[in-house]
Order: sequence, then C-alpha cells, then structure tokens
Amino acid sequence: GGVSDVVRVALLGGGTVGSQVARLLTDSAEDLRQRAGATLELVAVAVRDTAKPRPGIDPALLTDDPMSVVTRDDVDIVVEVMGGLDPTRELLETALANGASVISANKALLSEHSASLHQIAHDHGVDLFYEAAVAGAIPLLRPLRESLAGDRVSRVLGIVNGTTNYILTKMDEEGADYADVLAEAQRLGYAEADPTADVGGHDAAAKAAILATLAFHSSVTLFDVYCEGITSVTLRDVEAARDLGYVIKLLAVAERTADGHGVVTRVHPALVPRAHPLASVRDAFNAVFVEAESAGQMMFYGRGAGGEPTASAVLGDLVTAARNRQAGAAGQAQSVYAGLTPRPIGEATTRYIINLDVADRPGVLAAIATCFGHHDVSIQTVRQDTTDEAGRAVLLIGTHAALDADLSATVDALRDLDAVNQVVSVMRVEGVE
Ligand code: NAP
Ligand code: HSE
Repeated sequence: GGVSDVVRVALLGGGTVGSQVARLLTDSAEDLRQRAGATLELVAVAVRDTAKPRPGIDPALLTDDPMSVVTRDDVDIVVEVMGGLDPTRELLETALANGASVISANKALLSEHSASLHQIAHDHGVDLFYEAAVAGAIPLLRPLRESLAGDRVSRVLGIVNGTTNYILTKMDEEGADYADVLAEAQRLGYAEADPTADVGGHDAAAKAAILATLAFHSSVTLFDVYCEGITSVTLRDVEAARDLGYVIKLLAVAERTADGHGVVTRVHPALVPRAHPLASVRDAFNAVFVEAESAGQMMFYGRGAGGEPTASAVLGDLVTAARNRQAGAAGQAQSVYAGLTPRPIGEATTRYIINLDVADRPGVLAAIATCFGHHDVSIQTVRQDTTDEAGRAVLLIGTHAALDADLSATVDALRDLDAVNQVVSVMRVEGVE
C-alpha cells in the first residue's frame, strides 16, 4: 500500500476513551497517515444515545445500531471502546468473521474469551490487539508478546488499576474518605461504568489474566485468578501500615510455581515497603515489574487510566493493524503453547504480617510460635505492644516467605488458640527480598 490508500475505521463506543480516539484520529491525521501508510478514515461511531452532543464527532457518523457497523463490508478495522460482554462479544466475533481487524480496550471480555476471539481472528487472517486493555497508556502487552519473545518470564507484579490506586493514594496522603475519592475517580474518567469492578478487584484480575496468558504462553482466564479488592481496607489499616513503614497497594501478581509447570495469578491488597518503587506509584498511575531469566527485572510505568492516555494505546494498535493489513501480514495465532496449569493461591509463595490481640501471660508467645512452626511457617519479626487494658497485648508477627496455604492454615490455627483473643488483621507483604 502507498500513502494514498485508505483504511476504514469504525468505533464502537464514543465515551471517555472513544471520544479521545475520535479526536486524535482528526488532530493527528497526517502523522497517522504517514505512520500507517494509509489514511485512517473514521466511517462510523456506535453509541447508545445518538442525541447526546459529542464535540469533534460528525453527527452523520453516529448510529445506535452497532451490529449494522460490524456487518458492513467496507470497514477494515473495528475499534471497540464500548465495554461489557453482551452484546460486545457477539459484535467482535461478527467483525472478525467479517474480515475486519479488531482493536479493543475491553479487559473484561478479553480475560474470558480471548481464546475464541483469537481463533476467529486467526481463521480470518485479521489482527486482534488490546494494548489499551491493560495498564492504560503503558506499552506492556506488545513488549511481552514481541520484545520478550526470546526470554522466559518468571514473574509479573504490579499495580494495574488506576481507580483503586487513586483511592489508596488519597487515603494514605490525605486521610480521605473512601466514598468521596471513588466519586472523584469516576468524575476523572478512571473508573469502570460499574466501579464495583475496580474496587472489588475484578478489573485488576481481568488484566492479571491477560498478562499471565502473554507472559507464560499459557491460557489463564479471569476465573483462574484469586481476587480480593480494596473494599475492606480501612483508614485504620492504611495508618497501621504507615506506622510499620509500608504502604497498602492493590497488587496483581502472576508467577510460575516452584515445580515450573503451574502459574498462580492473584489480585489482593498487600503491604509494600515505603522504599520499594511500587510504593511511589501514586494516583491513577500504574507500574508493572516483569522478571525474566535473561533480561532480569524491568519496570513499566505510566498512566493507567483516563480517556486520552488510553486512546494513545488504542491508536498505537490501530497504526500497527493498518500497517499489517497493507502488508498482508495480519492474523497471528495466540501463543499458548507452554500450557502451564493455573494453580490456586495456596500454591503462591508470600509473606504475612499478622496482628493479634493476645492474653499477656506466661507461655503465650511460645504457644503462638509453636503454631507457626507446626505449619512450616518461619517467623521473621515479632513486636509486642501493651494495651490500655490489663492482661492484653498486641502482637505483630512478620513471617518469612512461605506457601500461602501454610500461612492461611497458621492463621486458622491461631484463631483456635485460647491465648488469642482476636486475629485483628492479616496482610500479605510483597516487594521484600
Ligand atoms: P464509557 O465512557 O462508558 O463509554 C462507553 C461508550 O460505549 C459510550 O459512548 C456508550 O454510548 C457506548 N455504548 C455502551 N454500550 C453500548 C451499546 N450496547 N450499544 C452502543 N453503544 C454502547 O466507557 P469508557 O471509560 O470509555 O470505557 C470503554 C472501554 O474501555 C471499557 O471496556 C473499559 O473497560 C475500557 N477502558 C477504559 C479506560 C478508562 O480509563 N476509562 C482505560 C482502559 C480501558 P453513550 O455515550 O451513548 O452512553
Ligand atoms: N477502570 C480502569 C482503572 C480503567 O481504573 O484502571 C483502566 O483500565
């Protein structure tokens, strides 16, 4: 193809991300034409409400019938920034089967149905790209898929949800109230249409599944991911973490099991040491560490949410897909040849800090230490503080790395000890070597 060629692009969705994609297609038209080797012409924008004012979008392009868009014969690339599973899945399957390449920002959909969507794309010789679905603007999926194709990844760990990182940052720095900050994150265009997906950890879990699939060349879906959100993290927890020199972050972790044949993928709040680089990732920024055998440690950092940053990732995919079509090189199969088995969180290796309300009398510490020992968990630190109440003490016990199943069995056993009045809190610790 030469630069006089035209690649026709249809947008499904004209909201936070879609409106920015449309704007950049106009504002950067000439650069995009040079880079893609063809004019990227916007030919349709599907939305729910065609009457809503959408500055920068030609009203003649709007339709409320997305199926009519994906069945058109003159659309080369469909950009899906609409969200949801239904009717989105059917729309994208139809688009791919109809010979259009698809760019999507939809992690919810890709984390469940990437295998079937990739198969359809491959069968029809078209591309399916979704850089924007994970960590917003940050180039991460293409580096994993292409730049690291010659290496062996052992671990991916990071902050992949902007909304929850924004909330935790404001709680930590300003003592802000959870509900107020969530409303602010929604106003800034960071949150999902239903923010439960953010605060419940499901958005991060979907991204973790996508990252694990790419990093380990193995199929990992949303249902394989252990998921705990930030809804039960209180200001008290945040302050207690600070006292100990930690910050609470919602982490996504995917790592090979010790036997080399499995992968554990998990999302949960964790204590991160203040000096760790992840601790300084603030607001809606994301950061992902990738550890590979030859490359060592890499960190990918940038804006993880918001219309314009996300649109940047969409446009990058769009240029690549347009070039591939011109070159007749579209339609790579998904690489899941390694076939690692998704394993439960019990097989993860991590550390805990356990806060116990205990009886302050002889033999208590010994009984508690024995309980850890019985479950193969090694204690690293113990701090005891007396309380105002006579005969009671607060014990903070930090462990060495151990299997999550052993750590959780230890906590269950502690709950049954006479000397333990209450297990006040249990937090995982990451980022400590
Ligand atoms: P949004 O602002 O709610 O926009 C959604 C758009 O899709 C709206 O224009 C809406 O139409 C349209 N739409 C929804 N359902 C439709 C249907 N059934 N038929 C026709 N049109 C429909 O959402 P967003 O924040 O742009 O997010 C879009 C996608 O990008 C989601 O998959 C999200 O997970 C992903 N994403 C978002 C971000 C971010 O920071 N916002 C970052 C990365 C990925 P109306 O305008 O008429 O309501
Ligand atoms: N709601 C998502 C977030 C958008 O807060 O990270 C980016 O995927």
